[in-house]
Amino acid sequence: MMLFGGDYNPEQWIDDKNVLDEDIRRFHEMGINTVSVNIFSWSFLEPEEGRYDFSFLSSLLDRLYEEGISVNLATPSGARPKWLSDKYPEVLRVREDRTKMIFGERHNHCYTSPVYREKVRLIDEALSKEFGHHKAVIAWHISNEYGGECHCPLCQEAFHRWLEGRYDSISDLNRKWNNAFWSHIYDSFDSIDSPSSIGESKNPALSLEWKRFVTHQTVDFMNEEIKAVRKYSDLPVTTNMMYDYLGLDYQAFSDSLDFISWDNYPAWGTGFDGDDVLVAADNAMEHDYYRAMKDKPFILMESCPEATNWQPLSHLKRHGVMEAASLEAVAHGSDGVLFFQMRHGRGGYEKFHGALLDSSGCETRTIREARTLGNKLTALKDVIGTVNKPVAGIIRDTESRWAMEGSAGPRNKGLHYRDNLRRVYLGLRSSGLDADVIGPEHDFSAYRILVVPMLYMFRAGLAERLESFTADGGILVVTHWSGVVDEYDSIYPGKTPYGLSEVLGLRRAEIDALQDGAENVTIPVAGNGLGLRKNYTCSVLSEIPEVYSAEPILLYGNDFYKGLPVVTEHDYKKGRSYYIASMMEEDFYHDLFSSLIEKNGIEPIAKALPRGVFASERIGNGKRYIFLQNFSGNDVLLSSSLLNGKRIIGDGDILKPYDTFVFER
Ligand code: GAL
Ligand code: ZN
Repeated sequence: MMLFGGDYNPEQWIDDKNVLDEDIRRFHEMGINTVSVNIFSWSFLEPEEGRYDFSFLSSLLDRLYEEGISVNLATPSGARPKWLSDKYPEVLRVREDRTKMIFGERHNHCYTSPVYREKVRLIDEALSKEFGHHKAVIAWHISNEYGGECHCPLCQEAFHRWLEGRYDSISDLNRKWNNAFWSHIYDSFDSIDSPSSIGESKNPALSLEWKRFVTHQTVDFMNEEIKAVRKYSDLPVTTNMMYDYLGLDYQAFSDSLDFISWDNYPAWGTGFDGDDVLVAADNAMEHDYYRAMKDKPFILMESCPEATNWQPLSHLKRHGVMEAASLEAVAHGSDGVLFFQMRHGRGGYEKFHGALLDSSGCETRTIREARTLGNKLTALKDVIGTVNKPVAGIIRDTESRWAMEGSAGPRNKGLHYRDNLRRVYLGLRSSGLDADVIGPEHDFSAYRILVVPMLYMFRAGLAERLESFTADGGILVVTHWSGVVDEYDSIYPGKTPYGLSEVLGLRRAEIDALQDGAENVTIPVAGNGLGLRKNYTCSVLSEIPEVYSAEPILLYGNDFYKGLPVVTEHDYKKGRSYYIASMMEEDFYHDLFSSLIEKNGIEPIAKALPRGVFASERIGNGKRYIFLQNFSGNDVLLSSSLLNGKRIIGDGDILKPYDTFVFER
């Protein structure tokens, strides 16, 4: 079954027995089949140190099982009881400015603290022993949205030992970090302090290594939780990740997890100046990142059926938006749609957060829309297990972004990384292709087109892999501000993008930062190889490449670099490469990829899609499932070629705003 349901926290109304009956009646009515429980229940489970009371959870799971509702069972480490930090203050975090925190909120434990690790291990094992074979439970939901960092003495010590394991000696570290600058030579690993606003915040290599350590330590903490639940249970494990979260490199989590899940809260109707085409694309790009982590279906673990309460505006979802957002996740590889949350909280910080059920007890618009969505998910059951297999990949690397955004220059007012990435992505999607958004370590062999947008850091070995991808016949597209530094944020000597000047037929020379709002214009070279004829705008950052054997496609139209190439093409062995030296407007990427598809005989999923209509394809079990979705805000008449195949969802030939058609081919 497609999982359908969400986070359920009934310990909040533990005294009111009628609520559970009422909720279950409504769950059945909406077709709910799965809930995630126990996420924030620790103080109920262990009211005093060492005294476990699982009675409420046990009767809840029994009841859910009787009702045919499955459970993602959470480990409760996301929020701890008060007694724990009162008795063991070491579990409290220390902030980067070295202030020690006091009890409050959630997601705030020291992930190094042996005490916290031990308390979590004990309760996780106890839960696993008690419920690891419970018939209602289908998966482990490990903790909740791991994140943040701790600078306590325990973490400092762990950081030192971790560094020690990574370098031959302290002088090796000093050299790689370029510590001769400002006379910052360290004489031992123990003398290194984590980055701080009251100390060292301007050593890029230190900042980068600290972030890597935070990821390492969090994964290590998670692995201990996984080991604890595995003691008595072999159910699949996941942890819920967040949108574009830069506190951790999520790629490092993937190997420990059986399936990927993430929490998605797009600002429909208000984000990107209310342009839902951009919201939809931005969101899809995130789904594609999580799917590509394992090249397998993922689970949309949280999403909001109504309005959130923490965004600038609690903007209600217009008719159809909840369904469109949910089916967008499915179109991109989710085998389920789960919400935060099943029922409105009565009090507390999230009491105004949207939910499937409210406290009125009445039939609501949300319930009606959820019922329809439930029926559509049931109709999509054969899609389960299939996956998107795009011909295009886009590399997105959190480590590179840490380094790029942590550096001073070339544009401290904003590099517009995600905006640039989204333009590339939209160009692929509007040309009718699906895309994988991949880490630099991902295998490239399935792709015809590989895009490297603003990949500032090339980790060891990447340039060679990009070279062979192109040499073997791939189409490589590299944009500005790529291949500049190594893993320690030191500039590569010689020509850059590092290792690619032969492949691209040029080198990066100068880079110009433009004012906010300022634009240059590009002029097509007559008879250029891509057949581009329009003038496009470019902005934010403009590189001036020194071109050797590449063919200019577009030239800058203004400024002192007027007439110099901004887009080039270069044949390299069996493949071809393109260099895009500035942040180009959205239309350019549409025209670029449409031309590449045409010239290289690549078969798109759908042709001639109007802006805001997206096509995706899930493949498997000898079938292809085509999803067409309309985020354009207008009715779209679909041509007969698009309507081909057995219809699973949708009627007629007009795709209305926020509607989804699904075909089996
Ligand atoms: C998520 C979190 C949930 C809830 C939700 C509200 O980030 O995991 O527990 O707080 O946000 O949108
Ligand atoms: Zn700590």
